[in-house]
This record gives sequence, structure tokens and C-alpha cells, in this order.
Amino acid sequence: MKATEVLEREHRVIEQVAETCGTCAEALRKGMKIPSNVLESIVAFMRIYGGQYHEQEEERLLSMLRAKGVPAGSCPVASLEHEKQRLSVLLDQLASAVEVYGQSGGSVSGTLIDTLLSIAESWPDHIWKENYLLLPMADKLFSEEDQRVLGQALQTIDSSNGEKARKTVDEFNAAIRLCSESAALWERASVA
Ligand SMILES: [Fe+2]
Ligand SMILES: [Fe+2]
Repeated sequence: MKATEVLEREHRVIEQVAETCGTCAEALRKGMKIPSNVLESIVAFMRIYGGQYHEQEEERLLSMLRAKGVPAGSCPVASLEHEKQRLSVLLDQLASAVEVYGQSGGSVSGTLIDTLLSIAESWPDHIWKENYLLLPMADKLFSEEDQRVLGQALQTIDSSNGEKARKTVDEFNAAIRLCSESAALWERASVA
């Protein structure tokens, strides 16, 4: 697998969690409660997998593109950088909204809903630009040797951060599973 394909594969994982943010926002809007561990697992995933891990890998790709002469202010690099800042602000906002939601026993959810929706919209948009503009640009500019060098850099990042990042995926999956199991139990209980 080419190094750029590794990044694309990680995008699919991030997109799934972003989609869940939209699902949670819709559920909250309908007055349903979302367990704190689900929301906290989203924050942890976005911070560690999306932020530290994936972002660090993408930073390597961007620095290699700069070395190939791609200017920092060019399309799509400049807008991706701008979006990265915005996503990080949204994540901080999400973390504090989750805290407020928990402390209020689930009664204060306005900012939480808005932030979840913004994340659900912003991440797929950011990823689309990367999948269809940034990564194809890299594929065009990089030689086989460049792909190999990038692949090696990704492996180094993976050996230091990969395990921690994948743990947040497992924790997210476990929180979701528990949540849907208890929803199913509740449904059965309410029918009985
Ligand atoms: Fe990115
Ligand atoms: Fe990315």
C-alpha cells in the first residue's frame, strides 16, 4: 500500500466518528440522552487519533510537498491549514460542551448540539479536499522513492503513537456498542 493510501484509509475511520457526531446531535435534538462515555470517547479519538496521530503524519506529507516546491499559500494547502485550526477550536469547544452537559445531568445541550453538527460537517469537507486534491497532488509529485520515504516516516510515527491512537478507536467502538445494547435492552423493557 502506498503511503498516501495509508492516510486515505485513516480518513475513513475519522469520517465514521464524524458521522457519529451528527447522529448524536440528532438524538440530542430529539431530547434523547447520550451517555458521557460516548461523548468523551469522541473527544479522545479526535484529540489523539485525528489530532496527534493523523495530523503528525500529514505534517510529514506537507513538509515533503514543500520540499517539492509546493508553496504554503497555494491551493489546497492554505485552506487545509486554516481548516485544521478551525477543527482544533471546534474540538476544544466540544470538550467543554461535553463537560457542561455531564455536569448539568444532560440538561444543557445547546452548544453541544451545535458543535457536534459543525464537526459532522467540517471533517468530511476537510477530508474530501485531502482525498481529492492533496493526496492526488502528492501522488503526482512523489516518486516511488518519495512514497517509500513517506511510508517510513509514517511507520516511525505509528510505532510511537499508533497503539495509543488505535486504543481510542477501540474505546469509541466499545462505548457505542454499550450504548446501542442498552438502547436495545431499554426498547425490549419498554415493550414488555
Ligand atoms: Fe488534515
Ligand atoms: Fe487527513
